[in-house]
Amino acid sequence: MTKPTPTARVLTTESGAPVADNQNSSTAGVGGPIVLQDQHLLEKLARFNRERIPERVVHARGSGAYGHFEVTDDVTGFTGADFLSAVGKRTELFIRFSTVADNLGGPDAARDPRGFAVKFYTEEGNYDLVGNNTPVFFIKDPLKFPDFIHSQKRDPFTGKQEPDNVWDFWAHAPEATHQVTWLMGDRGIPASYRHMNGYGSHTYRWTNAEGASFFVKYHFKTNQGIRCLSAEQGAELSGTDPNSHQTDLLQSIERGVYPSWTLYVQLMPEAEAADYRFNPFDLTKVWPHKDYPLRRVGRMVLDRNPDNVFAEVEQSAFSPNNFVPGIGPSPDKMLQGRLFAYADAHRYRLGVNHTQLPVNAPRATTANNYGRDGLMATNGYDRHAKNYEPNSYGGPVQSDRPLAAPLAVDGHVGTHAAPAHSKDDDFFQAGELYRLMSEDEKERLIANIAGGLSQVGREDVIEKNLAHFHAADPEYGSRVEAKVRELRED
Ligand code: HEM
Repeated sequence: MTKPTPTARVLTTESGAPVADNQNSSTAGVGGPIVLQDQHLLEKLARFNRERIPERVVHARGSGAYGHFEVTDDVTGFTGADFLSAVGKRTELFIRFSTVADNLGGPDAARDPRGFAVKFYTEEGNYDLVGNNTPVFFIKDPLKFPDFIHSQKRDPFTGKQEPDNVWDFWAHAPEATHQVTWLMGDRGIPASYRHMNGYGSHTYRWTNAEGASFFVKYHFKTNQGIRCLSAEQGAELSGTDPNSHQTDLLQSIERGVYPSWTLYVQLMPEAEAADYRFNPFDLTKVWPHKDYPLRRVGRMVLDRNPDNVFAEVEQSAFSPNNFVPGIGPSPDKMLQGRLFAYADAHRYRLGVNHTQLPVNAPRATTANNYGRDGLMATNGYDRHAKNYEPNSYGGPVQSDRPLAAPLAVDGHVGTHAAPAHSKDDDFFQAGELYRLMSEDEKERLIANIAGGLSQVGREDVIEKNLAHFHAADPEYGSRVEAKVRELRED
């Protein structure tokens, strides 16, 4: 797979001077110490020391690919987004899939949600849809996110993931029961990135050309079919081929077997949100399809591997606040928190000018603004252009076209629990998911949960978790409890 270089060019230093010898460093005499004037050696060693940047604090391990999105169905009644404005319209995109909890180098076949981050290079700027392969999430307030992630990643004392921490967090987060049921079920270990769905997970907001708004949820359905690994298969593959998802995606595209997904949306007219039976902005819940059916939008195809994993995948930066006109945020608190967190992470991980890197810069349009300079800037060469606005010299001006219709709000500023809806509760949908499973699936779900929960040291933490499964469905609770007791007696 290595592409041959057609003609050998002369090796140079970073400043372009020819290198005479790349095998022997300069020494004082034949057997003497190395001299400080060996610029090539110093540069090589110093660069090597700086080859790594901070890994993503979550979703560190991932794989990327380029492709396109093509609109297949008319959705102009719901959004004015230009890239969705005509059937047949194509938009170039980059996607990064990932696991969440482990560090760079962690095994691909872990039981973990998978990231599903898409960057659409639209003519009106980049639109980032930063989702997962799960339609829901563990928590519903961003204040809890750092605590949640601390409990799932390596413990600062033991240096490894700890069932005590994982389940202690969930013991205090009844709202996680739905996502825990999802994660411990069959879909918790996808066979590959190609064989899983993607979800925007949050509720977003579309606004059409007339200014009417709709709340929207995104579903990318895999056209390869869903395939998953059992706990045993996942454990084995993690040892024998920790890069299994990377290998699968890379080879599939190299062979010309291009993976694709069909994008559907669920649309809720804005006026229905306030009286819906549960909070439509609660990320721990799905919208039943019988309330809001799936409506097809288009097809995503991945057909090109990145040439350089560091430059394009490691340095890619997705942010849920990269919207385009016609698409905006809903009041989902988790989403609101994420609107800050990502670009902040990018400024730390990649620097303030990460938006100028080729994978992150707009492709179907250009970025025209007065943000200039800073570490590693490459955009300051616009001949004598002014760096303030407004100006009298033809610099870029505002569009006067809002991204989305204004959203009505009322009440007092303060820390509020989410607004209560008539059927809000943390367990009902977890029970629904359990009851949907076949007997075999239930058996595996119980074994997976009990396998982790039975390793927890404290009885009170186990009890609190069992109470959540009992609340979701009495049979579900009893079976998990019996299995945990059995494993603890062994
Ligand atoms: C308040 C909740 C959350 C916070 C504060 C948060 C924060 C972060 C941060 C800081 C990163 C690393 C970004 C980087 O360095 O490039 C990240 C990555 C990621 N997050 Fe979240 N996250 C949250 C919830 C979620 C949810 C609910 C989803 C999915 C629905 C999600 C999906 C992702 C994905 C896919 C990535 C990897 C993006 C990539 O491939 O570069 N996160 N998150």
